[in-house]
Amino acid sequence: MTEMNIDQTLLNTARRLSATPLADLFDDEPDRMDRFALHLPGMMTDFSKQKVDENTLDELLALEKKRNVCGFLKKMAKGDPVNTSEGRAAQHMALRAPEGAACFADGKPISADIKAIRVRMEKFCEDLRAGRIAGVSGRPIRTLVHIGIGGSDLGPRLAIEALVRSAEPGIEVRFAANVDAADINDALQGCDPEATMIIVASKSFATPETLANARVARAWLVQHLGKEAPARHMLAISSNTARVRAFGIDADNIFPMQTYVGGRYSLWSSVGLCIMARLGVAAFNALLEGAAAMDRHVLETDAAHNGPVLSALINYWNLNYLDLSARAIIPYATRLALLPNYLQQLIMESNGKAVAADGTPAKGVASAAVFGAEGSNAQHAFFQQLHQGPATIPVDFIGVVADQEHNPAQHKTLLCNMLAQSRALMIGRSEEETAAQMRAAKEDESRIETLAPQKTFPGSRPSTTILLDALSPFCLGALLAFYEHETVAIAALAGINPFDQWGVEMGKTVALAIETAIDDADTSALDPSTARLLDRIGTTG
Ligand code: F6P
Repeated sequence: MTEMNIDQTLLNTARRLSATPLADLFDDEPDRMDRFALHLPGMMTDFSKQKVDENTLDELLALEKKRNVCGFLKKMAKGDPVNTSEGRAAQHMALRAPEGAACFADGKPISADIKAIRVRMEKFCEDLRAGRIAGVSGRPIRTLVHIGIGGSDLGPRLAIEALVRSAEPGIEVRFAANVDAADINDALQGCDPEATMIIVASKSFATPETLANARVARAWLVQHLGKEAPARHMLAISSNTARVRAFGIDADNIFPMQTYVGGRYSLWSSVGLCIMARLGVAAFNALLEGAAAMDRHVLETDAAHNGPVLSALINYWNLNYLDLSARAIIPYATRLALLPNYLQQLIMESNGKAVAADGTPAKGVASAAVFGAEGSNAQHAFFQQLHQGPATIPVDFIGVVADQEHNPAQHKTLLCNMLAQSRALMIGRSEEETAAQMRAAKEDESRIETLAPQKTFPGSRPSTTILLDALSPFCLGALLAFYEHETVAIAALAGINPFDQWGVEMGKTVALAIETAIDDADTSALDPSTARLLDRIGTTG
């Protein structure tokens, strides 16, 4: 089949399925669960509540073949320069490859380098946890303030919040990302300078927000401990040693970050130092093992049974054939409350692009507008719109099977709430059914006439459910790798490069121009709206 034929077939199928209630697919396909539910490392995924039937899946698999999605994932694993605009590999998988595996990036062996950095991280974290790393006063360091933004912030923040119970003793980790000084002020507030170490995580070491916060932290150290303090109390994680040294951090205090690992794929690198410090070496290794298990699944499984690839095909179908342009991500776990933020960056910074890697228009839409919050809280916030709003928004539900809070009653309620949402979104409730229920409750006819349409649910709204075995380092690693691979697979379908982010650059350039206009007291080159807003800021500032 040619690309055009596949595309036409999918368009015809979308028209046919648009008129088919989602719940009917279960009657039409008695063994639907065999095809759409998968057992993957650390989790089960259920795609059966997506608006795809077995024929559609075969058509999507033809598209996968044509666009060589699995081939692209394999090239990435081999270390080929899949990040074409920056001319380099995207080798985050090498960071979690099992001991002894020979990994390459752009043709060069990298396993020894990865191992050397990991050994340094482990030594540092073990010493830190044992109280063997002291500040200038001789007191052991007990608090880390991790400064970074985007990919240099979101992963460590998520992993620590997901995996640490707040009462567990250990190294305290605080975060500062925003250039709003409130963030770094709050992070430093109440810290004991003698027992605090600042980690500045920035791949480029050129990110203005991070450098501004790092300067505040350095001044804080100098103010409390004297000008020798930064040398003992500041670490950098970066791939740009020259910039780190120019900032004043010693070469011995730099944990290198590999240039062939993208920021939003860097949780597994030295960016995860504070995760290792907080959770310990064994837990960090388990996080890597979970991701590695997902990598193996992705590389060794045919597309029809490959979790991330199927998820990519279904999301590509939702975006391009059912025209569903948003996606909600709802973890039913308080400790995973930061997952939507993390995935927002992973998905939207990777795939929020309309031009293909060869400069032509992308073959399709690669990214939804992603948003989310933890359930069941989200039910009391934006779920109204998911159920009855005019636009259909597909949902990813993520639940955890193990009751790690030892409260079976509440755990049951939590998971039943999750299952209720996906089921309600699917089955909906017709106006006739609603009216019949109201009649049975002896409501009067005029009320039924006005209220029944309002209490009707269109249903047929798709969702995926992921059930993690537990909220453990292994399962979290597998889950994050699942979404990484799904993201890259969607990019391969659309033909875009998921590893660059030119869109972020323009904002940085314009911000600089505005700051210059303020410094020069000359806003004449700005548009009238920006100039007027600056006037106002100037008069209140
Ligand atoms: O938002 C753009 C971006 O480059 C992200 O991709 C990256 O994760 C973040 O900024 C931080 O970059 P750096 O680690 O270089 O400070």
